[in-house]
Amino acid sequence: MEKKYLFSPGPTMLPPEILLRMAEPVMHHREPEFEKIFSEIREGLKYIFQTKNEVLTFTSSGTGAMEGAVSNLLSNGDRAIVIRGGKFGERWGEICKAYGIEFHPIDVEWGKAVKPEKIHEILRSDRSVRAVYTQATETSTGVRHPIREIAELVKQYEDVLIVVDGITGIGVFDIPMDTWGLDVVVSGSQKALMLPPGLSFAALSDKAWKFVERSNLPKYYFDFKKELKNTKKNQSSYTPAVSLFVALRESLRMIQKEGKEAVFRRHQRLGEATRRAVSALGLELYAEDCPSDALTAVKFPQGVDGERLKALFFERFGITVAGGQERAKGKIIRIAHLGYYDRLDMVMVISALEMLLREMGHKFEMGAGVRAAEEALME
Ligand SMILES: Cc1ncc(COP(=O)(O)O)c(C=O)c1O
Repeated sequence: MEKKYLFSPGPTMLPPEILLRMAEPVMHHREPEFEKIFSEIREGLKYIFQTKNEVLTFTSSGTGAMEGAVSNLLSNGDRAIVIRGGKFGERWGEICKAYGIEFHPIDVEWGKAVKPEKIHEILRSDRSVRAVYTQATETSTGVRHPIREIAELVKQYEDVLIVVDGITGIGVFDIPMDTWGLDVVVSGSQKALMLPPGLSFAALSDKAWKFVERSNLPKYYFDFKKELKNTKKNQSSYTPAVSLFVALRESLRMIQKEGKEAVFRRHQRLGEATRRAVSALGLELYAEDCPSDALTAVKFPQGVDGERLKALFFERFGITVAGGQERAKGKIIRIAHLGYYDRLDMVMVISALEMLLREMGHKFEMGAGVRAAEEALME
């Protein structure tokens, strides 16, 4: 008998409470009962996005909301700044390109966070820039970008927005959208919200809604204005993934019951324990200076093939971890700790890592990682 465990940074493991909700018969999305659920979801999303404004929910993967955050905010001739420190930063650039938006890429070395001064330099010299696109966590490298500092800079420009991909940030660490002055935050269901893939979210500041008013790029399904109008009536514009909405209500209830501060603290602890465990095994962190509490990207010494290790995780233990993407392929593995994870989950995955490293001939003191994790978790 072998169990299966998801330690990938999306999709993530789901709690039984949420799985059970999805087993209920599908209801019709124009019934009063569904409107009640929708209304509760609206409040729960405001709580976790930390905004007074509505949070739009779309039936799509996270990239749908990213696309909407380009097509609804910008107009022909607008320029953007795109922070490209990994695969998801590159995606902002690809979306801009698809909509004919010219952008200044800021290419950040993979594993490093962006330096906000770089953004300021461009903002000072090109007054046609209307938006800065970044990630809260760049999931392909495990880096956390300094979005608070970037927001401070962007705030000085009345005609520029900061747009944050919080797909691996919302529900992981504190992103007080209104307090920090973030203009747009997008997210997805299959990460810290402990849901299957299939829902995306977009929250907009009052400043961003003004951009929506004047935007002339083509849009249809991801039409923020239309969706807002319907959201306020507890409706979605098109047939929503009803079962995921029902599950989302459960997830938001669970998060509110634990309390967002406790949720952030839990992620911080799990992240810290994983990082210390990995270091105790003589391995390096890929995002050494600026690791996110969403996931830990681990670098391997010569002789340990990351792709092989990832495959062995599954073969030996039924554990799915993520490998490196593109230029990081074979060089790293990424262990997630966002969403439905607790202390012993991390002890287990570190224990599996030790057994596999031993099998692959890496020299280290067996048990050192587990001990470091346990000590961190008992502090
Ligand atoms: C930071 C980040 N942005 C965007 C995405 C893309 O989301 P999706 O695959 O749900 O479209 C992901 C998914 O892993 C992500 O981690």
